[in-house]
Amino acid sequence: AATRHYTFDINLQNVTRLCHTKSMVTVNGQFPGPKIMAREGDRLLIKVVNHVQNNMSIHWHGIRQLRSGWADGPAYITQCPIQTGQSYVYNYTIVGQRGTLWWHAHISWLRSTVYGPIIILPKLGVPYPFQKPYKEVPILFGEWFNTDTEAIINQATITGGGPNVSDAYTINGLPGPLYNCSAKDTFKLKVKPGKTYMLRLINAALNDELFFSIANHSLTIVDADAVYVKPFTTDVILITPGQTYNVLLKTKPVHPNAAFFMAARPYVTGQGTFDNSTVAGILEYDHPSHVKTHPIFKPTLPALNDTAYATKFTNKLRSLGSKQFPANVPLKVDRQFFFTVGLGTNPCPKNQTCQGPTNSTKFAASINNISFVMPTTALLQSHYTGQSNGVYSPYFPMSPLIPFNYTGTPPNNTMVSNGTKLTVLPFNTSVELIMQDTSILGAESHPLHLHGFNFFVVGQGFGNFDKTKDPAKFNLVDPVERNTVGVPSGGWVAIRFLADNPGVWFMHCHLEVHTSWGLKMAWVVLDGKLPNQKVLPPPADLPKC
Ligand code: C2O
Repeated sequence: AATRHYTFDINLQNVTRLCHTKSMVTVNGQFPGPKIMAREGDRLLIKVVNHVQNNMSIHWHGIRQLRSGWADGPAYITQCPIQTGQSYVYNYTIVGQRGTLWWHAHISWLRSTVYGPIIILPKLGVPYPFQKPYKEVPILFGEWFNTDTEAIINQATITGGGPNVSDAYTINGLPGPLYNCSAKDTFKLKVKPGKTYMLRLINAALNDELFFSIANHSLTIVDADAVYVKPFTTDVILITPGQTYNVLLKTKPVHPNAAFFMAARPYVTGQGTFDNSTVAGILEYDHPSHVKTHPIFKPTLPALNDTAYATKFTNKLRSLGSKQFPANVPLKVDRQFFFTVGLGTNPCPKNQTCQGPTNSTKFAASINNISFVMPTTALLQSHYTGQSNGVYSPYFPMSPLIPFNYTGTPPNNTMVSNGTKLTVLPFNTSVELIMQDTSILGAESHPLHLHGFNFFVVGQGFGNFDKTKDPAKFNLVDPVERNTVGVPSGGWVAIRFLADNPGVWFMHCHLEVHTSWGLKMAWVVLDGKLPNQKVLPPPADLPKC
């Protein structure tokens, strides 16, 4: 295994899209940011130097970070932010993972411009469990805002209302020809006929799940969140913020006299606002000779609220579960948790008018009715030094504080409680977690992301979770293993994971607006007895608050 060094200089860069130029925070002046390339087993040393006025922190989304929580990156959870003029070296080893993951800023809304791919190849000499692709291409979905996203979220926080939506979706930073003043900013993938390409799909959008398709071509999914799956072929992919897929694209055997749009647009079930628009890129066959003008075929995407399609798609995902890559689903459960996730409200401060669901309320979001309050010091440090008193409470409720009933009338009172509460787990606890969408304020699907672990998605369904009937239907043989899962709109999802990674691990909705409103919590996994079951000591350059 190798040690790979990267330097991320955080600096400002002028970028123009849709005829709007803005100065934005980037890594090395690149948008999207630089690609991290490694092999399974490699060690990464990434020096992040902050040259801008904003505080910075970078998360390596999906990397397990075994015992190396200091390198995980969520600000105020595992580290204090890197302040102006300071630097920090993220030091971690990639253990037992290969596929596509990504990195992004994990503070405020800076991830809107600070993100990039992590490509993990198998160990040298180990082949893919599928046909070796002719070429591999990262495809990052994102959102473009004409104005500064820090201003947008600050404004929303002050008014208590919903933040402005983005002005475009992007593929590799480019909105494509269907937006005004954007044709020149179109992602083009030049391909040869009769080849297999592997697209490494990453949804880095802030606030939308996306459907993605390429006209007249189907896609074979081979990997989800850097875990191999049983290959299956589909015309349309659903990808939530935080998720990644590797998909194989077979090009046509002979040059077609056409080009093909690849396109993505949101999957939205709530009645909330969304940007009803489509990002397009072009799949263009590399013609040897002629043909400058040819028809462009467009793909058909499901309707914006096509939950039936979304469900059919998610139900098809299965772990590969081969001898070499088994699905190690925890079969016994030590602790069971039931978390309700959803939107709610906080009271508007006195003498102020708010723009929440009413004039006297601010939007809030919660898990088990607790809207998470960010601490001002890093939780992992408080835990590690045994100084959690006054920083966090170790008593996160195991089940909801207020009753809800998806099928019933919503309660009159949508108020949530606030707090910095964590769940403490002994080392190697086997956890089953049911997450239920409360749908108290709008039925929306929530892509929940867990740091520090992969989990198995053993079940999902609609309506209220029924503990007498639903567990019998759980898939404990080959459920998909991943780090981000959509809690279905008006439904529930059941996951299992083994708490074999000591530290403090964030869990949150990967829709940035819901995270800002408090749809987040954290798990403390205690050290085990053996020396290799303990959190490693913090690095000397760990930033201070
Ligand atoms: Cu990709 Cu805590 O996030």
